[in-house]
Amino acid sequence: MTYTTGELRRFIRSQRQSLSTQQQHQHAQSLCQNLIKEKNYRNSRHIACYLANDGEIDPHQLIEHAWFCGKQVYLPILSPLKKALYFVPYHAGDKLKLNRFNIPEPICSPSQWITAQQLDLLLLPLVAFDEQGNRMGMGGGFYDRTLSYLQHRRYWRKPVLVGLAHEIQKVERLDTQSWDIPLDYIMTEKQLYHTQK
Ligand SMILES: Nc1ncnc2c1ncn2[C@@H]1O[C@H](COP(=O)(O)OP(=O)(O)O)[C@@H](O)[C@H]1O
Ligand SMILES: [Mg+2]
Repeated sequence: MTYTTGELRRFIRSQRQSLSTQQQHQHAQSLCQNLIKEKNYRNSRHIACYLANDGEIDPHQLIEHAWFCGKQVYLPILSPLKKALYFVPYHAGDKLKLNRFNIPEPICSPSQWITAQQLDLLLLPLVAFDEQGNRMGMGGGFYDRTLSYLQHRRYWRKPVLVGLAHEIQKVERLDTQSWDIPLDYIMTEKQLYHTQK
């Protein structure tokens, strides 16, 4: 059976939303255990992550591990002018407020916002992925716009892009568009996919 992009997005979103609390917890725990062993995580000091929403795999244990190791954690913040993201420092106990998509963001003055290029590692949520590193997001293209500078970079590429997902979000092959920015890796509760470029 073939799906349109919209149908596939709705289908996988409903699949991940119907995971039980116990499955979500197990996946989150395995994800964290797998990621903290990775060189790309261990060597990174400036790491952007996200707060789980809509059944996304929950990286909060990783955030806590990164704090414990003295790494600087950032969360994405919607630019009020462009449909793109900046990243703001996130510390234990920071107050959050809901953005226009009802996703919590730290309260932080624009002088502290940084761009993706200043990060070492960017951990991205996604709706669907394939083993080639193609990513389907929620349909807003926010990460694609934020990372569009990588389209013209072959060698000096920063940050490392790691999509985080449940294994059930993997599909055989995603259709891609010229603006889509592929991921370097995808980490699930089961394994790390290193994508071929
Ligand atoms: N670099 C970009 N510049 C301008 N528009 C973009 C860019 N990247 C994505 N978009 C727009 O964002 C929209 C959503 O992108 P899409 O890749 O379908 O969503 P998602 O990546 O969230 O699944 C597209 O219609 C596209 O026109
Ligand atoms: Mg896209």
